[in-house]
Amino acid sequence: MDAATAASGSDLKKLESDLTARIGDAADLAVLDDLRVGALGKSGSVTGLLKSLGGLPPEARRGFGQEVNALKQQVTELLEARKDVLQRAALAKRLETELADVTLPVQPGPLAEGRIHPLSQVWDEITAIFADLGFAVAEGPHIETDDYNFTRLNIPAEHPARQETDTFYFKEKADGSRLVLRTHTSPVQIRTMLAHQPPIRIIAPGRVYRCESDQTHTPMFHQVEALVIDEETHMGHLKWTIAEFCKAFFEVEDLRIRLRASHFPFTEPSMEVDIGTEAIGKPGGWLEIGGSGMVHPNVLRAVGLDPERYQGFAFGMGLDRMAMLKYGIPDLRDFFAADLRWLKHYGFLPLDMPSLAGGLSS
Ligand code: PHE
Repeated sequence: MDAATAASGSDLKKLESDLTARIGDAADLAVLDDLRVGALGKSGSVTGLLKSLGGLPPEARRGFGQEVNALKQQVTELLEARKDVLQRAALAKRLETELADVTLPVQPGPLAEGRIHPLSQVWDEITAIFADLGFAVAEGPHIETDDYNFTRLNIPAEHPARQETDTFYFKEKADGSRLVLRTHTSPVQIRTMLAHQPPIRIIAPGRVYRCESDQTHTPMFHQVEALVIDEETHMGHLKWTIAEFCKAFFEVEDLRIRLRASHFPFTEPSMEVDIGTEAIGKPGGWLEIGGSGMVHPNVLRAVGLDPERYQGFAFGMGLDRMAMLKYGIPDLRDFFAADLRWLKHYGFLPLDMPSLAGGLSS
């Protein structure tokens, strides 16, 4: 369109009605963008008219200039309005097509095929129960110092307890100290008390290592430690916490709990924890599930806490053992054999997250 024809008001009207119609009809954002470039781009029709203004006689320029600018303004607004409509429509369509009904059964595919290992399941269940009781989860390294694994837990050098657990030792360092693969989760007690002031309420699930292997022992296995430190913590709290935990975990309301006198260097008094075999559907007997006790004053002193002011309790259980008992799994070694047939048999569906509200193992 050159300056002479551009000067015609009727051409302007035609361009306006043409653009209005086409913008209104634009079916998607790509078409709309082509229209924008065709009208307002560098060599667009409206831009062309604006450029042509320079060639007009001054008296024509003013009036025509105003009309072209008004057209540009109008086209810009039409484009914006249409873009808004198309964007909303695109979003509505996405929301409709990408809608996920989370209550539908899992579709065939990896999510339906995969299984959660019973150990991971039990780990999540235990975490859910203790979270509900107000416990935080603490962690520590698998490679631990001799000091944290033994000494500060009131197991000094030459203490017989050092021989009781068959420890994997690392090579002695130049200064005579040596690292170990932690033989229990109890060093996390030390780490937690060194890092935080009471009140303390934590559990520490994780791997531990002992040099042993048979149907119920593997050189690597799992424990969960619990530690509570406060100013008025007593054995009643210990027993109640273990009882509540066991009832929730085994999903058995009338579960018997028995604490039997025992010995651990880091607790005094120390108790072995037994639960009634009704936990596994065979009433009449007892099952040992772990060790417990009131934190020994020497352990409190070793982390700089005053035993006159603070007391606490701790207990430790075998995670793998808890899984074997709850889910009737006979051989511990299979846990770590990576046999998919076994996992298919004993595993859990990945979308069934254990929770106290939704059911731990349903
Ligand atoms: N650490 C002990 C073990 O491995 C268990 C335990 C933990 C006992 C805490 C008492 C208190 O056998």
